[in-house]
Amino acid sequence: MKILITGATGFIGQRLVKELLSHGHDLFLLVRPGSTKPRLENVRYVEGNVEESDVIGALSPFKKILPEIDCLVHMAALYDLTATLPELYLKNVVGTQNVINLAKKIPRLKYFHYFSTYAVNPQLKGKVKEEELSKSEHPFPDEYLRTKNDAEHIVRNQLIDGVQTIIHRPGVIIGESKTGLTDKLNGPYYFLNFILKLKSSGLHHRIPVLPLPLRKESLLPLLPVDTLANWVAHIITHPKGHKLRTYHEVSQEKIKTIQFIEEGMRLLGVERPILPIPMEKLFSPFFPLLKMPPEIIFYMQQGIELDRSQIMNDYPELKAPKFSEYFPKTIQWLKEGHL
Ligand SMILES: NC(=O)c1ccc[n+]([C@@H]2O[C@H](COP(=O)([O-])OP(=O)(O)OC[C@H]3O[C@@H](n4cnc5c(N)ncnc54)[C@H](OP(=O)(O)O)[C@@H]3O)[C@@H](O)[C@H]2O)c1
Repeated sequence: MKILITGATGFIGQRLVKELLSHGHDLFLLVRPGSTKPRLENVRYVEGNVEESDVIGALSPFKKILPEIDCLVHMAALYDLTATLPELYLKNVVGTQNVINLAKKIPRLKYFHYFSTYAVNPQLKGKVKEEELSKSEHPFPDEYLRTKNDAEHIVRNQLIDGVQTIIHRPGVIIGESKTGLTDKLNGPYYFLNFILKLKSSGLHHRIPVLPLPLRKESLLPLLPVDTLANWVAHIITHPKGHKLRTYHEVSQEKIKTIQFIEEGMRLLGVERPILPIPMEKLFSPFFPLLKMPPEIIFYMQQGIELDRSQIMNDYPELKAPKFSEYFPKTIQWLKEGHL
């Protein structure tokens, strides 16, 4: 398949490129003029910018590749909980609309893959189905989620004739399962960093319990980044013929947030009981002092379980490695001084 990819130089994109190459696809990577282009064999670079209404300039020599493309993967986005609404809106919402406009101009396009997020439904509770998308007029815990929700609405409302649309909703993505390696130390890494700092300051000996903004029952929908790349490459390579499909890309194993932190503390040698206090307002003022964005509290306290019916039905062969097998590698990598 000839695949055009946006966001291929990112955390997930770099690993997806390797997986897609191993399946024998021809890849065209859309990169901004001036961006660093990783030295990769068997890929072609296409200069473009998703923020421009004509993503690949009207007079660009790269336009000539469009008639060759069968599949478009749109993963370029701004994933930053502290960025402003205008910055996020331009990249995530306008960027997605621009890429859909580009897709409409690709004459033999058969597949459009869009990267959303598991947290796109922040107002829902209980078991959330893959085809559900909450209304955009509800309040959002942060502007990143507002813009990812808007962008997914755009994708769903503008299905292209003759094109199969696949929406990927990755969970909380952590380092590689075999090495622990990551280049994104956000999300749950903020807590691991906090525990490491507690240990190096010696403060952990003086506190009998560690109060944290958690709900006992909250789940953390983890997936290692190499597993995600492997799954998405498999899904791209083996399409199922649906006009529209959405997949919650999270492990089949249910991990509680409290279990993640307790196990992290055990592996880091800080064995103190956790006191879950699900009161966001109590903790928010302290988070900036700890160099954590208070926005992450929402992600630690989520009251949803992600249904996996569609991914299990279409791809029962996709299984994530066990938490007990890969998490010690995540921690080992951090202990080696990578944080
Ligand atoms: N990481 C996660 O935990 C996670 C979880 C759920 C969903 N997601 C979604 O998965 C996707 C990929 O995430 P990621 O973590 O891999 O992101 P990332 O590492 O921040 O990479 C972002 C990518 O977007 C490209 N980009 C940014 N602005 C662009 C523009 N104006 N035009 C063209 N390309 C542009 C960047 O290119 P440069 O090299 O030029 O900067 C980079 O390749 C995103 O849609 C994100 O919302 C991520």
